[in-house]
Amino acid sequence: MVSGLIADIPAEVPDNSADKLRPTNKVRFNMFRMQKPLPAYFNEAEDSELINSIKKSKEILGNSLYILGHHYQRDEIIQFADARGDSLALSRLAAQQTEAKYIVFCGVHFMAEAADILTSESQTVILPDLNAGCSMADMANIDEVTFCWDTLGNFIDMDNVVPITYMNSAANLKAFVGKNNGSVCTSSNAKAIVTWALNKSQSTKILFFPDQHLGRNTAFDLGFGKKDMVVWDPHEELGGNDKEAIEDATFILWKGHCSIHQRFDIKHVEQFRKDYPKGLVVVHPECSHEVVEIADLVGSTDFIIKTVKNGNPGDVFGVGTEIHLVNRLASENSDKTVISLDPLICPCATMFRIDLKHLAWILDSLVKGEVKNRVTVEPTTAEFAKRALDRMLEIV
Ligand code: 13P
Ligand code: SF4
Repeated sequence: MVSGLIADIPAEVPDNSADKLRPTNKVRFNMFRMQKPLPAYFNEAEDSELINSIKKSKEILGNSLYILGHHYQRDEIIQFADARGDSLALSRLAAQQTEAKYIVFCGVHFMAEAADILTSESQTVILPDLNAGCSMADMANIDEVTFCWDTLGNFIDMDNVVPITYMNSAANLKAFVGKNNGSVCTSSNAKAIVTWALNKSQSTKILFFPDQHLGRNTAFDLGFGKKDMVVWDPHEELGGNDKEAIEDATFILWKGHCSIHQRFDIKHVEQFRKDYPKGLVVVHPECSHEVVEIADLVGSTDFIIKTVKNGNPGDVFGVGTEIHLVNRLASENSDKTVISLDPLICPCATMFRIDLKHLAWILDSLVKGEVKNRVTVEPTTAEFAKRALDRMLEIV
């Protein structure tokens, strides 16, 4: 028993009826997906041995294998990726990839789930370390979101509420959104998806989860103000709001955040501008609105990469996103200066879990005919989640 973690779990999982108890004290088990220890060889091998093993396995597996790498992955992994991209690009690539039998997803769990939903039944999606989750995605779960929905339904016409979930969410939340005529979005298309939802009717309200920052930044970008938004805290009665505030709001923003991006602060931007008066500040929309407001440019990982690539030699960029991407941008754009806005920023701990030993083990197992760490989504959930993902891919 893990002390302090499970003491508050109700004996029964609460159902989703609005007059039942708010599922406040549920533990986020997703963080504990339990990766089994690797065979001793992979833990003890030198990096050079692991690299040789990966190369050999890739050669043997040939076209039956396709390795996807998210931009936040370590360089040691990216070197083996057949394609790298942001979450939108990777989900598109997974959908187009009809040939490969095995898709090894070097990213985090929600991305592998999305890939499984978008690929055919004959394809197998594998996550090299099952503990590679996303703490933000784990900040909203199906019971809490359903409870919120049912609670809102007690005093709001839910035909006007469009649920939008960020790609960084579990498959059952994508399915919830698919069932309720909403859409998935990513950081590169949030504006287009929110605009699509707002155009549905004049009285549209948007329930946006799990990242309050992406929701808020998108709303501000579309000309809305603070008065148009409320934050829904799943641990508070009515999300911590009164009915009138919810009735008046256009955006109901789930109280979730990315601990990596939330760290960037106004003082980092000020210090960078002091050090590099001609430098450009470019940040990810998961950063707080205060930071986004004073940044020069805001966009997804893909946008950040293009911005730096298309800059002029000698340009200086202060970047607010995950450190592996910032460091790679610096080394791949040596004619420019690229630095992290926060000198003390930590890597995304869950992306970091994918390393040489896990990749070598996964591929070696495939060579032996053994599939480890398959990520599958239950068919009904997958069907509704696909509806929400397809909607997103149609809109953008
Ligand atoms: P992208 O959608 O830009 O890939 O971002 C995913 C993510 O997890 C950012 O923290
Ligand atoms: Fe999740 Fe943040 Fe890591 Fe992205 S950087 S995967 S949002 S924890």
